[in-house]
Parts: sequence; C-alpha cells; structure tokens
Amino acid sequence: MCIEKSRKSRRVLGSVLTLPVVCLTAGLVVAVAGGCAKVTKGPVLLGVSEDGASLMWETDVVGPGEVLYGQGDSLSEKVITQPLRVEYEIVKKDAAVKTRTAFIHKVRLENLEPGRAYSYRVAGPAQMQSRIYKFHTVPADTDEVTFAVYGDSRSRPGTHRKIVELMMSKKVDFVVHTGDLVSSGDRYEQFGPQFFEPVKGLVETVPMYIAKGNHEGNSGNFEKLLIGEGDKNSFGLDYGPLHYFCADNVSKGLKTEEQLKLIAADARSSKAQWRFVSYHIPSVNFGGHWSKWGYPDALRTLAEAGVDFVLTGHSHQYERFRPVAPAPGTEGSYVTYITCGGGGAPLYDVKPCLYHASAKKVHHFCLFHIRGNKLTMDTIDIDGKIIDHLEITKTDGRLNKQYLWTAVPMEEIRRYQELKRKR
Ligand SMILES: [Fe+2]
Repeated sequence: MCIEKSRKSRRVLGSVLTLPVVCLTAGLVVAVAGGCAKVTKGPVLLGVSEDGASLMWETDVVGPGEVLYGQGDSLSEKVITQPLRVEYEIVKKDAAVKTRTAFIHKVRLENLEPGRAYSYRVAGPAQMQSRIYKFHTVPADTDEVTFAVYGDSRSRPGTHRKIVELMMSKKVDFVVHTGDLVSSGDRYEQFGPQFFEPVKGLVETVPMYIAKGNHEGNSGNFEKLLIGEGDKNSFGLDYGPLHYFCADNVSKGLKTEEQLKLIAADARSSKAQWRFVSYHIPSVNFGGHWSKWGYPDALRTLAEAGVDFVLTGHSHQYERFRPVAPAPGTEGSYVTYITCGGGGAPLYDVKPCLYHASAKKVHHFCLFHIRGNKLTMDTIDIDGKIIDHLEITKTDGRLNKQYLWTAVPMEEIRRYQELKRKR
C-alpha cells in the first residue's frame, strides 16, 4: 500500500503545481510527480544457473528500468532494461470496461560466478527502487539439492499463500510449479492477485520454474510475464546431481508426439544421476480428470529415455504411483509418477487403487532432497503435516531393490487406464 508522506500544492499564475509526492510502500521508496509509481508485480527470479540469473518485474510507469547487482552486498553492476508495454481491459462490476497499462521488465544477469551470493535491486523509472534482495547461483561442484514442487494454485490465493509460506519455511534451492497459476490466463488482471501476490517473499530470492497449465490460456500473457527473455516454454535446468526438464503440454498447436520426443531427447542427453520431468497434464492419473496425456506411448518413451520422476498437476489431488517398470524386453528406468495438483485450487476426488503408493485429496506440496545417490521426498499438507515419505537410493544407476520390488508392470497400468477410458 502506498502511504503519502508529504504533499504540497502551490498556485502559480492561476494553475496548480503539484510537488513530488514521497511514498513509502512495502519494499519501495518512490518519488514521482502526481502519485506513487510502484513495482506492480515481482521481482521474480525466472531462473538461476551457475553463471546467470533471469528476472522479471512489472511497473505502472513508462520508461527504462535498471537492475543494480553484485556479489555479496555490492550493487556495483548495472543493467538497463526497456519494458514491454501491455494494455489490458478490466470489466467492472457495473460492466464498465476500463483499460489499464502495465510495463514488463525482463533481464538476464550474465557472467556471474558459480556458488556465490548476489544482491540486487530493481529500479526506475520515476526514481523508483525496490528493496535489496539476495539469491545464490548454482554451485559448480555440489552433490546436493533441495527443491519443492507444487501445482494448480489458481483460484484461491489464500490457500495458495499458505502453501507458499510452508515452502518458505524450508530452505529450498528452487521451486517447480506444474501449472495453472490463474483461473483464466487470458485475463491479464488475474495474474496479480492469484499468482504474484501469493508468491511474494519466496520468488525474489528463489527461482520458480513453471510448466505451463491449460488455464494459462493462449493469449500470450503467461509468456509475456513468466518466460524469460529469449527462453522457451519447455526448458531444462541442472543442479548438482539433478537434471530437471519442464515441458509445455498444453499450448495450442503443440503435437503430443513431438513434445514426448523433446522430453525424451532431453533426458537422454543428460548425464545427471537423477532425471526429473514436469508437465501439466498427467500421463497417469486415477481420479480428478483421469488424465492420460501421451497415452499409450508416454510410459514406454519416458522409461526408455531414463526418466526417474514425472511430476504433474491438472487433477487437484495428491497421488504417487508405485514405480512403473519398463516394458518387458526393453531397457529403461523405473519411473515414479506423481500428481501434485494441490496448490490451492478446489480439490478433486482421488481414486486410490493398488497402483498407488500414496493418494489423498488434500492441499500440499512435495519437498525433495537429493544428496548424491540418495533421494528423500516428503509430501507436506497445508497443515504442515508429512502425509507421504519416500527414501530411495541408486547404485550404478539402478534403484534399490526394495523399491523395485514394489514396481507395477507398465501394461497393467495401461490396461487399467484403457478400462477407465471406456467407462
Ligand atoms: Fe489444468
């Protein structure tokens, strides 16, 4: 909220001259003639690597912006940004249509050093500047990573905020969102209250990687706001022993077969010990939408590509499947499929069955910790309670046999899905 600290008007030759207004906001000190300029969305870290970081923020003032940044507490470096102007309409309760203008700034900080703390602030125009935030670049030689995964946070910002606060209480290196940030992404004004407000306090210091959901729509608002300059909707990231690929499986015009090939090629090209994939609409899902994206090829393709975990959303529930074995006679990985669509949206019924290791209708997020060949996962509900726990290890690329004993034949899962499809 903008608090006017001082305001003086002086009549000069019959006209009114309004002197600059000094405004204090949460994280902002602004001086601008005639009102309070402000950062209206963000800043959000869209990505952090060993040598760079991508940022976005939105203002309500035209003109170039800048990022001041540096290692440690320094702000000695500066990058100037030119905003993207966005005009959008808001329909008021009385059906009156109001046009609003926003200015989106995006920047990539380059030539950073691995494993270092950096400070930054975003600033300008109109002498506007944010508070100073810190982030860490990815270490070059770590064997450890901690990250959270959640999805479907749309529609209920209060519930979304509780999940975000729980994630903030964990020291995570990054967060993955499996899509559906807003009820209707074609309505630009929804991104503020449903996404940017609830994630405040987290995404300024920890990068959030997003697999686009169907509710983000095809207007381009999602891409304008949350895909970094020059980046694509499908992208990979590396952190120590982990390679993670976020794929778009919802945008209009995409072909499922092509997207599956893209995911598989990315997994095959990685030498990381653990290979994760997120996309919005699940390939295996019992309850909710009963989604089966990529059916019937996805399971075989992902196993043959050596994927370990697939985390999706779309169905607002929690379900972790027992590891799905590769097809008989084929080489491949045992893939663990998790639907984690409980980030805030109204919950759907889950249909527990023998193929599930755990299933619950609850708001939640998944917290992963990997150290070398050991992986642990806690699924934490909105009350902070651990509702599912997993510990697995890999030796010479193979999961521990106790976990593999719980595996489900791929054909059984496919037959069960087919049966449900014919209901
Ligand atoms: Fe969805």
